[in-house]
Amino acid sequence: MNEHSMNEHRTEIDSTIDRMNLKVGNSMLCSPVITAAGCSGHGTELSAYGDLSTLGAVTVKSLSKDPYAGNEPPRMLGINGGMINSVGLQNEGVKGWYENWYKSCKRLNVTTVVSIFGFSIEDYVETIKELQVMLEEDRSTVKAIEINASCPNVANKKMFSQDADLLNSLIRAVKEVTIDIDLWVKLSPQVSDLLEIAEAAISGGASSLTLTNTLAGTALDKSGKSLLGAKSGGISYDALHPVALKIVSQVRERYKDIGIIGVGGVKDLKTALDFFYSGADAVAVGTHNFIDPRFPWKLVEELEQFQSHHGLKSLKELRVS
Ligand SMILES: Cc1cc2nc3c(=O)[nH]c(=O)nc-3n(C[C@H](O)[C@H](O)[C@H](O)COP(=O)(O)O)c2cc1C
Repeated sequence: MNEHSMNEHRTEIDSTIDRMNLKVGNSMLCSPVITAAGCSGHGTELSAYGDLSTLGAVTVKSLSKDPYAGNEPPRMLGINGGMINSVGLQNEGVKGWYENWYKSCKRLNVTTVVSIFGFSIEDYVETIKELQVMLEEDRSTVKAIEINASCPNVANKKMFSQDADLLNSLIRAVKEVTIDIDLWVKLSPQVSDLLEIAEAAISGGASSLTLTNTLAGTALDKSGKSLLGAKSGGISYDALHPVALKIVSQVRERYKDIGIIGVGGVKDLKTALDFFYSGADAVAVGTHNFIDPRFPWKLVEELEQFQSHHGLKSLKELRVS
């Protein structure tokens, strides 16, 4: 794109932001449709299917400080009610991502959410520090850091998002080193008191919550042997949808202003609207990208049409809680 067409493009996006009135936490997005971490590659892989700059954001595959190999195959399979995956957070490390993907994200003007994970609080802190040093020159397209808190803390083997005190310490620590960038926190649905966990993230400094990550499960062959190399994995898609809806509505009922990104089984206009009725500000598309990689753009169009057809200033007007 030359400078002139870049400016025109920017104006178009700004007018969509005004039209759709899209604030998520502290972030203004040009569309309520985001791609979920791990389901749209490292940044620009889906660019063959549509203009990525017209999506609310692309969330990159979760990154760690150093490259990480992930789990043994098989790592993904279809099951009743959706998909189970045990990719195990394979990634090339934050430096690898920056060197191999960030340039193309910027060139294509992709609003980017950088998902980060670690196995200790220091891991997360170091990864964010390193990311920020690399982005020092220009991070205009990076909208937020998403803390993937569904990782075990090696010190006590508990998942960050399953222990309120641990999560609060994590979010406080990352907030302290995060400079001028929104902090989104992605939670696990697998807790007995989700509101306690949400409170820990919000009081720690999260401006938005991404709800939710996958549910743990397994799948067996006829002899009882696990079909996954890692023996267990995360369940996504249809089976997760009602679980995520309940969580979104619970959190919205308690917190009127926190940004909420609804994730879990978004596959058509209906499943996306379910999240807006429940109180989400935006939705993220995960597993359905593997079935129809053009879907995020179709959904943007359908939501825009729905909004204008019903004379809504914002999809937030749909909230029932
Ligand atoms: C193959 C695969 C890889 C995933 N990798 C990540 C990841 O790296 N980080 C993360 O936070 N979530 C990851 N997720 C979870 C998704 O971002 C999303 O929360 C979940 O799949 C629910 O959405 P869905 O039902 O639309 O797929 C992954 C999901 C799948 C299916």
